[in-house]
Formats: sequence, structure tokens, C-alpha cells
Amino acid sequence: MRIAVLPSSNEIATLVADMYSELLAKKPNAVLGLATGSSPVPVYDELVRRYEAGDISFADARAFLLDEYVGLPVDHPEGYRNFIERVFAGRVNFAPDAVVGPNGQADDVEAAASEYQEQMESAGWVDLQILGIGTDGHIAFNEPGGSLTSPVHTQVLTKQTREDNARFFDGDISKVPSLALTQGLETISHAKKIVLVAEGKQKAEAVAQMVEGGVSALWPATVLQFHNDVTIMVDERAASELKLIDHYRAVWDAQ
Ligand code: GLP
Repeated sequence: MRIAVLPSSNEIATLVADMYSELLAKKPNAVLGLATGSSPVPVYDELVRRYEAGDISFADARAFLLDEYVGLPVDHPEGYRNFIERVFAGRVNFAPDAVVGPNGQADDVEAAASEYQEQMESAGWVDLQILGIGTDGHIAFNEPGGSLTSPVHTQVLTKQTREDNARFFDGDISKVPSLALTQGLETISHAKKIVLVAEGKQKAEAVAQMVEGGVSALWPATVLQFHNDVTIMVDERAASELKLIDHYRAVWDAQ
């Protein structure tokens, strides 16, 4: 893992957007992995800025979302497909149908899970995946206590995740769905390159566990220790519980 401790979300957004720009310059038809949550939003804003400046194009790219709530109405603003359309996809030039997510409205969600896994495999998996991290160490919606080798699957959300996400549902946990469809940890591990962004003190324990903890179902993000091309971009507060922080700074500065 490469760890970058950066002063603010501006620097994080610039560096992550650089990774997308480089990829699309080399491979215009790249497969992008998109995450929801608030952490990636500054990255999306920066990508939109570059698109509007004519520096980057998504015309030939495809994108897969990490996850989706099960059971929200198709037009619910907090449905992840709608969220990503609003904050990113609808603001740039993806072709129609180029951005897809798991079908949380399917009658048979288990079948929808398998179909999504197959769709990603047929696309040759993701070239560059952006991730956030939950305060309980989840990535996508892979909650603690699950398999480290899961494909796309249905996931019962923890109380902590529903509490964290209640801010998007009028602060009312009863409005947050309790079930989601999510790329599994195995699905995510197929991404050729991964960049995870985290900010704020509330992420510090999860970040320390992910980078320095023992690999465990208790902290699902620890599975990223097995991936050979992961960059973690964090602000000072999210980095504040890393034991080897001085070493990570030295390694980053030396590259
Ligand atoms: C949700 C998403 C995750 C995201 C997490 C953290 O649970 N399913 O993909 O990483 O929230 O979100 P935030 O970046 O808003 O803290």
C-alpha cells in the first residue's frame, strides 16, 4: 500500500483526478469504478472541472457502481444510481447506459447480484476503483463479519452504518434501508488499481486497522493489504492513529 497524508480534500481530489486523467489518456475506453458517500465528491467535482475545461473525456469510458440500497423507489434521490448521476455522471459526457449499478429494485435480488458480477467480469473488471471507508471499516457495503472472498451479494447493513448514513435520510435511521446489494471483497479485488480516500477523525481507527491491523473479517478493508496496487489518500485527522506515519511520509516523499 502507498499512503499519502495530505493537507486537505483539495490536494486529495487533485491527485485522485490525476490518476483518472492519466488512465483515460492512455485508455479512453477504460472501465471506471465509482463510489458513493461524501468522501469522493471533491474528486468528482475536480473531474467535472477538467471535463468542462476540455482536458478529459468520458465518451468512451464505462463505469460500475460499488453498491446500491435494496428497496428504495427507483427515483429516490439517495438511491446510489441517482446520487452518482447528480454528483458526477450526469455532469460529464458518459454515453447513455455506460454507467451501471446493481439493481436494487429487482424482484430477485440474488439473481441481480450474480448478473452484476457477470457483467463486471465480461467488461474485464475495473481499471481504476475509487473507494471510501465506513467508520466500521466497511468498503462498498461489505460489513464486518462477512467473507473476505465474496462476489457481488446482498448485505444486511449494521446499525452503525445506518446511523452514519441517516444524515442522507432526514437524520431518521428508520428511513435508511437495512439491505443493500454490493460488490463483494473479491469483486473489488479484481480492480487493477485502487485508490481509497478518507477524511476526518471519525475515520482514524478504520484507517489504522486497514493499513496496520491484522487481516480480519472484523475490519473488511484490511483485505486491501492483499492487493498490490492500492493508494490510500488521507488527511491528517484520518491518519492520526497510524503508528508508522513518519515512515509513510518518507516513502511518499521519496517517490
Ligand atoms: C457508504 C458507502 C461506502 C462509503 C461509506 C462512507 O456506506 N456504501 O461506499 O465508503 O458510505 O461514506 P462517506 O464517504 O460519506 O463517509
